[in-house]
Amino acid sequence: MKLSVRLAALAGSSALVLGALAGAAPATAAPAGATAAPDIPVANVKQHLTDLQSIATANGGNRGHGRPGYKASIDFVKAKLDAAGYTTTVQQFTYNGSTGYNLIADWPGGDPNQVVMAGSHLDSVSSGPGINDNGSGSAAILETALAVARSGYQPSKHLRFGWWGAEELGLVGSKYYVNNLATTERAKLKGYLNFDMIGSPNPGYFVYDDDPAIEATFKNYFAGIGVPTEIETEGDGRSDHASFKNVGIPVGGLFTGASRVKTSAQVSKWGGTATAFDRCYHSSCDTTANINDTALDRNSDAIAHAIWTLSGTSTPPTGTVFENTADVSIPDNGAAVTSSVTVSGVAGNAPAALAVGVDIVHPYRGDLVVDLVAPDGTVYNLHNRSGGSADNIQQTYTVNASSEVANGVWKLRAQDVASADVGYVNGFKLTFP
Ligand code: TRP
Ligand code: ZN
Ligand code: CA
Repeated sequence: MKLSVRLAALAGSSALVLGALAGAAPATAAPAGATAAPDIPVANVKQHLTDLQSIATANGGNRGHGRPGYKASIDFVKAKLDAAGYTTTVQQFTYNGSTGYNLIADWPGGDPNQVVMAGSHLDSVSSGPGINDNGSGSAAILETALAVARSGYQPSKHLRFGWWGAEELGLVGSKYYVNNLATTERAKLKGYLNFDMIGSPNPGYFVYDDDPAIEATFKNYFAGIGVPTEIETEGDGRSDHASFKNVGIPVGGLFTGASRVKTSAQVSKWGGTATAFDRCYHSSCDTTANINDTALDRNSDAIAHAIWTLSGTSTPPTGTVFENTADVSIPDNGAAVTSSVTVSGVAGNAPAALAVGVDIVHPYRGDLVVDLVAPDGTVYNLHNRSGGSADNIQQTYTVNASSEVANGVWKLRAQDVASADVGYVNGFKLTFP
């Protein structure tokens, strides 16, 4: 239920960026050397939620800190991970006179000095079973971890997953974990991705505005499936990523909304109703009925995309091409037009020798101003009216793009600034050296 958007050389890139239906875009294979994230089967994620619901039902209706439903939740997740080949650790702490538990699962292999971690709180409030908050994040990272094992993925970085206790009482478990990590171990954590409430019944698609590379990785994924996102503002610091951010670890995450009310503009954007994102937030009706399957599916796939992207090779194979061959007509002496390509699956910054292939058909190149626009809006001028009456711009420019985050939507912007001759963008491509 997802498209491959990794390292994609897509004629349809511009359509994706314009929000075309996901199904309209061609699926493309990742080039040799890169491994695309698998689709995360939402049915499996939902089965984990059904199991967490049963655990709550059998234990007084909740999975709260210090209650038997919490420990049963830990045992349930741990058994799945152990069977899949993870190295699991249960960390105990005491809070409010009760024992709390964090579960840490390490996937053997990868560079031990570069760790990518995903985490979710596993506790509910005492007033309900906590299926959206936060069975949803817990189940999605569990299924992602199981998908890593199923595919035999061996990333270049080390992968770790965490399920936190007593988040609802003040991020207690995640603070305990971070406080007990030696400084040298903290320094190895290159990114912490948090998932708390990702299946809200009236969902929005929110991305945390924290580490730029993590943020861009999530935004890319959603751009690739044509789903608009917004920056998360319902309470920065209200979930476990704050424990990591406070000690300087790069963080990011996804969220579909809690008690805040969806605005009419957000209803236009995402559908649903102008009511709370989650009308059952922190209440007894946060059951398996309180989940939007589409949101759960998209976010689960976005998690896998981010885990694969951020843990994989940091540079794409030499010669990796991102291309858009859709024609874009350039109006005579008129507004600028753009052709877009989405770069994804590349960790870190763009190269110092990014090859920008420009193919513009035009009978008078002296009319044209052509720029490369980086994902953050930085403009690199490629052509400024040189060449007079010569035909066409068909050449490759080398741009030092090393100060730009590689992942994101790159645009070729062309403007015709003098009247009489017209043409079109025939193609735009970025080639990694
Ligand atoms: N568990 C969080 C809480 O109870 C839910 C939440 C609210 C949240 N706002 C958030 C999670 C913003 C992530 C980001 O407060
Ligand atoms: Zn929560
Ligand atoms: Ca002209």
